[in-house]
Amino acid sequence: MPSIREQAPAQRRKARITRSFDLASDSYDEANGDFFNPVGDRLVELAGLRPGDRVLDLGCGRGAVLFPALAAVGPDGYVAGVDLSPAMVHRTAHQAADARLRNVSVRVDDAEDLGFPDQSFEAVLSSLTLMLTPDPDAALAQAHRVLVPGGRFGLTLFGPDVQPEWRQAARVLHGYAEDGPLGFNTLADGPEAALAAAGFGGVRTVEEVVTVQYADLDAWWRSVRSDGNRDLLESIPPDRLDEARRAAYEVVRPLAAAGDLTRRTAVRYITAHRP
Ligand SMILES: C[S@@+](CC[C@H](N)C(=O)[O-])C[C@H]1O[C@@H](n2cnc3c(N)ncnc32)[C@H](O)[C@@H]1O
Repeated sequence: MPSIREQAPAQRRKARITRSFDLASDSYDEANGDFFNPVGDRLVELAGLRPGDRVLDLGCGRGAVLFPALAAVGPDGYVAGVDLSPAMVHRTAHQAADARLRNVSVRVDDAEDLGFPDQSFEAVLSSLTLMLTPDPDAALAQAHRVLVPGGRFGLTLFGPDVQPEWRQAARVLHGYAEDGPLGFNTLADGPEAALAAAGFGGVRTVEEVVTVQYADLDAWWRSVRSDGNRDLLESIPPDRLDEARRAAYEVVRPLAAAGDLTRRTAVRYITAHRP
């Protein structure tokens, strides 16, 4: 198998996504659950799932959408989660098995090329995932294909910066990295036109701010190691990582008040349906 550096751009991007979320998966939920879980809950609420629905979660990660979706569809419904990262899939499948949940499946699959039949779900959801994948139009086309007519699609994306210090801290870290930033695809700037082009109707966007309190700067650093930013940290030479961390701390330190570090992030909840 060619190394990550030798692969074609889209494959290379997917390999970077897979590697970073594999590495982040063991602490993802613990370090970032206060952010991803409320976003998943809110997406499920806005998607209006019904008891008995069959739901697909694209980029299920550690289950921020998958578990609340299971609660919403009840014992007669069904939720399938897919993710590029085998480690995410493994841990989430274990969690579902430990909870004796039987109306769920979690497997490695690519949102851009889903191994599900046409028209097999009443709802497709995807939280903070589709801005990462190299070809978002392919993922939207697949979501449309696997939905029944009248089926609902719901996704979340990051909104505009509320506190520019966090982006500045990422820029400081990039200054130490050997690889260019993974960045986001075109959906991050607004998915409405792409959704319409993929055949979705009734597109609605709601923007809300999610607040997370980190106990201290080290707690924030653990969260950076435990999400998509792990890709960035992996490309910083190990002997410079400590210096990079301290430089990033200087940027975000002013946000800490009374010992607490508050991060406010705008999240866009977009819902649509297949006519
Ligand atoms: C930021 S995490 C979000 C996980 C989860 N939805 C949540 O809200 O906590 C993004 C996830 O999308 C997955 N991912 C990215 N591109 C994907 C693709 N093309 N197909 C399937 N999963 C993908 C990553 O492996 C990662 O687990």
